[in-house]
Amino acid sequence: MARLFVNVDHVATLREARRIYYPDPLRAALLAEEAGAAGITVHLREDRRHIQDHDVRRMKRALHRPFNFELAVSEEIVRIAEDLRPEQATLVPEKREEITTEGGLDLRGGVDRLREVIDRLKNRGTLVSLFIDPEESAVETALELGASHVELHTGRYANASGDEQRAELEILGRAAARARTLGLEVNAGHGLHYENAAAVAAIPGMNDLNIGHAIVAEALYVGFPTAVRRMAELVAGA
Ligand code: PXP
Repeated sequence: MARLFVNVDHVATLREARRIYYPDPLRAALLAEEAGAAGITVHLREDRRHIQDHDVRRMKRALHRPFNFELAVSEEIVRIAEDLRPEQATLVPEKREEITTEGGLDLRGGVDRLREVIDRLKNRGTLVSLFIDPEESAVETALELGASHVELHTGRYANASGDEQRAELEILGRAAARARTLGLEVNAGHGLHYENAAAVAAIPGMNDLNIGHAIVAEALYVGFPTAVRRMAELVAGA
């Protein structure tokens, strides 16, 4: 049965629009846990455009469920992750000019660096996941590099419709099946919302869905706990 991890980056985005102290992403994260989230995800970007260093330190202390810390392989952030020792780290690509994470990790370039960072995080007791495009070759490389989890990028699926979307769902299903065969745990995320998440949650062997934007947006209408509860039920019931 798939589980929901709530990404609270967008709560911090709203706070940083004014550079003040509210809304607090930790308060949202604790509410999300109460409302049925299986874990919390945040991305500490190099440019600190939303989540700040103090947020991740406070979350590590206060959260009750697994904390999934997303990071690029920049040395500064890797050191923070080593210090923080979250339950899980997800390595993601990062470009300063992007609006949000655009593609999966490029596993061909920088293999040695990825392997080094994966080893360092594993040595600190952190499970390591790689955010990859849903391609069987990327899944195989993730295993070779020493990751125990992959997060399949659902952006192309989320942006498609009709037949194209059905084809993207099959691509996700094939990548998930390959990962499971190799013994990797499979997560997925990016661009998932109340209409498109259930089909991804229903992929055999699917573990955790990382969902942020749609939940924070829905919270404007129904309140954050209700928005989380609805998505958690949808994911678990798929
Ligand atoms: N997974 C990863 C690796 C991401 O970078 C993001 C976006 O921060 C998400 C999941 C969540 O995406 P969304 O906010 O579109 O639900």
